[in-house]
Amino acid sequence: MPHRIQRPLTVLGIETSCDECSASIVTAQPNSLVCEVQSLATFSQIRLHQPFGGVVPEVASRNHLETINGILDQALREAGNPEIDAIAVTSRPGLVGALLVGVSAAKALAYARKKPLIPVHHLEGHAASIFLKKPGTPILPEIESPRLPMLLAIVSGGHTNLYVMRNSPSEWPIDFLNEALVGRSRDDAAGEAFDKTAKLMGFPYPGGVWIDRKAQENGNGKAFDFPRALPRKTDLDLSFSGLKTAVSLVIQDLKKNGQFEERLPDLCASVQEAIIDQLLTKISRAAQAHGCKSLALVGGVSANSRLRARLESEWKSYGFEVPPLVPPLAYCTDNAAMIAAAGMFRYRQGYYLRGDEFLTLNATANASALPEFDLARIVSPKEGHA
Ligand code: KG4
Ligand code: ZN
Repeated sequence: MPHRIQRPLTVLGIETSCDECSASIVTAQPNSLVCEVQSLATFSQIRLHQPFGGVVPEVASRNHLETINGILDQALREAGNPEIDAIAVTSRPGLVGALLVGVSAAKALAYARKKPLIPVHHLEGHAASIFLKKPGTPILPEIESPRLPMLLAIVSGGHTNLYVMRNSPSEWPIDFLNEALVGRSRDDAAGEAFDKTAKLMGFPYPGGVWIDRKAQENGNGKAFDFPRALPRKTDLDLSFSGLKTAVSLVIQDLKKNGQFEERLPDLCASVQEAIIDQLLTKISRAAQAHGCKSLALVGGVSANSRLRARLESEWKSYGFEVPPLVPPLAYCTDNAAMIAAAGMFRYRQGYYLRGDEFLTLNATANASALPEFDLARIVSPKEGHA
């Protein structure tokens, strides 16, 4: 068992893997899983990418370069410029040029301040987001001692992954993301399915929230019968590939008949229902197949009001013992607090780089949980470092 640090810790997190430039200071008490967010500064580039209908990698990395110093200053200042124990940064996966900005800033800071550096897998950050708490809010018992195994659904614009979390984060195996994955989308992520169908309807990027809003104008989720893919009983994978074609055919029809505007709420509600139905079917199936006692739902799509409402009324029927953990939206979408929390857990386990070890750390675009490059250097937890 790696050496445990027996004192309160303060970690600076940095996230630049896609179109959010974010920095955060997070603290944790010894022997507690709860990570308190002392500050979170985030600049969202959504408006910059909107004219292009999606994230443009070059635009993203250039903007991160312009923004990162101000965001770091803000996060440090808002937390009262505390003494930092370690710096955590998303090093994989993501847009490589965007990741590099965060990784370079983190390396420079760690070098200047002589602090250890923790390279964090972006999805491990999402997994850690359920342990975040705003100062002054109560500690939920399900967070301090999670009901395991826990089904973790990461549902965002880039991923729709189902994991069975068997350990609390202080015991996460170094490669736990690979080991815990039980289901994933074979094509588009759920958020992508929202965004692409929203684009067909003429909504700006990212369209998920527009579909959500329009559906709330009395939309009937049963008005159009869109495909729910991969319905086979044992399968825990998802697919949203047939949805776009089906939606575009309905749009053509409605436009031809001059009914598009009037039926838009029904169309949005039906698309939303098709995506949510598939998500909940697979969540329920995964929970039963793996005996999961609780559910954590993270990622941008967890903001969807219909998904939240259905989960609230249906969670017991899926076999969960406690209500689903859905963090506040600021911690669900990409943010640096979740990276700091994931870094906190790894740091406590002794998985970090120090001194010269991190100077050659690189950003990695692909999602492999731990690149050989890092594995070689951080696979043996450091001992006696507290
Ligand atoms: O986690 P996130 O902020 O970024 C990554 O993709 O990593 O997720 C963004 C996704 C987008 O696809 C967006 O359309 C979707 O989350 N989203 C929503 C809602 N709010 C954001 N989808 C459905 N309903 C919403 N209310
Ligand atoms: Zn993300």
